[in-house]
Amino acid sequence: MLKKCKLTIDDQPFEFEVEGDFFWGKPELLYPLENNILSNVPWERHGYACVDALNNFEIGRLKKSVKDLILEAMHRNNIKVDADFELRNYHKYATSDQEHSNVISITRNLQVSDFDFDIDNLAKRFSKILGWPLTSWVEELNKSHVQIRISRPNSLDINPPHRDGYLSYWADIVNVWLPIEGCNNKSSLPVFPGSHLVSEDEIFRTESKGATIKGNVYYVPCIIETKQGIINMIRPNPKEGQALLFSPYLIHGAAVNQNKDITRISLELRFPKANS
Ligand SMILES: [Fe+2]
Repeated sequence: MLKKCKLTIDDQPFEFEVEGDFFWGKPELLYPLENNILSNVPWERHGYACVDALNNFEIGRLKKSVKDLILEAMHRNNIKVDADFELRNYHKYATSDQEHSNVISITRNLQVSDFDFDIDNLAKRFSKILGWPLTSWVEELNKSHVQIRISRPNSLDINPPHRDGYLSYWADIVNVWLPIEGCNNKSSLPVFPGSHLVSEDEIFRTESKGATIKGNVYYVPCIIETKQGIINMIRPNPKEGQALLFSPYLIHGAAVNQNKDITRISLELRFPKANS
């Protein structure tokens, strides 16, 4: 069925059409109330926080490597750039949906070793904040996870609202969203505060790979509304060098880029609890 997904971001209404089979879940809370990855932090009931992640030197190195990786993907697709190319102008070079799709088909398959940053050091920093030993290694996937997200202005380069925790390999991790370029109060990742504590029978969603927006199929189940009504999101908007940490059960997504002429680029990482 074709449904309108209606939501607000910082009180501003948005809507887009989603194709999928939607259903209400069972009366169960998926978020574990004990020994959770967020059990030790004062912001557990919110489900998210902005925390310090990288110093100026580290974020500079990381940004340079993200730029180099995107440039390489553009070169491989014969997308010409000027010598003074800046990531925020990406949409002025990758001008069609096809070119963009070609670029992200390369950038979505990168490994942690392709980036210039120490992922295990970051896991240690977040371990101190969360009070749990963390690792970057995702056992079920047999690799660490890092993904560049590119969102062009005036586009629907978005995930629908969703929870990552529905996928088994993301059930016991902390989500990390790291701003790289063009991330501000008009483009950074929206979250629905406290929504990790919403029970499944109050959630109207699709199965995994069950939602399509403008012809793009999404891996994660799309959540279209809750019993409380439409989804009211906010953008926590972490600053450069900070990261947004959040529960995999927190509803997030719909990161529409409302900047008129700036591409938004971010990194997503995920850290499971370490076995110790
Ligand atoms: Fe997600």
